[in-house]
Amino acid sequence: MTKLTVNVDHFATLRNARGGNEPNPVTAAVLSELYGANGIVVHLREDRRHIKDSDVIAIRKAINCTFDFEMAATEEIINIAYDIYPDLVTLVPEKRKELTTEGGLDLKGNYNYYERVISGFFNRNIPVSLFVEPKNEDLELSQKLGASIVELHTGHYANSKGQVQQHELQKIREAASYAHSLGLKVVAGHGLNYSNTFDVATISQIVDVSIGHALVSRAMFLGLERAVTDMLHILETASIQ
Ligand code: PXP
Repeated sequence: MTKLTVNVDHFATLRNARGGNEPNPVTAAVLSELYGANGIVVHLREDRRHIKDSDVIAIRKAINCTFDFEMAATEEIINIAYDIYPDLVTLVPEKRKELTTEGGLDLKGNYNYYERVISGFFNRNIPVSLFVEPKNEDLELSQKLGASIVELHTGHYANSKGQVQQHELQKIREAASYAHSLGLKVVAGHGLNYSNTFDVATISQIVDVSIGHALVSRAMFLGLERAVTDMLHILETASIQ
């Protein structure tokens, strides 16, 4: 069955709206694990718009499931990652003005840079996941760079409809199969929700999905337990297809 990694960033977004301590993303992480999530991911952005340094430290200590530290490969954040020592890091591109991560990494354009960054993590035994578009070239570069995991960007799939969406799904299917044949572990994320995750989770090579916004949105109305268990139910149903 495809595993669920819960992104708790937007509990911090809501907390920061009032500057206090509620809702606490640390509590969200602990409860998500209790309700069955296999991993927790946080994105410490350069501008600290949601998750803050203290959240990362507290969540790292509070949970026992996989802790994925999502980050842009800047020197400041790399040094924080070395200190935190997460179970894995997910490298993403980051633009200051974007509302959320907009696409996969430009591995070709920044090959030498990522090679240095990835070897730094490799030397510290921290596995690296690269957030990439579902394109063969990026998968080959990921393997060459020494990443052990690729997270396929599902944003275009999630934001499209009808035939275009089916085409995007097919791209993800083919990319998952190719990445797996290259020896990479395959995960997927971005824009996944309660309607579009099932089809992605039927792709046997995709072992994990990373979900934030839809899950936090459902948690607001139905509670976090329902939000996590409803998603786990989708993943379970997809696994027996
Ligand atoms: N994966 C990556 C690499 C992301 O940047 C994000 C957004 O923070 C997600 C997954 C989760 O996306 P969403 O919030 O749309 O579920």
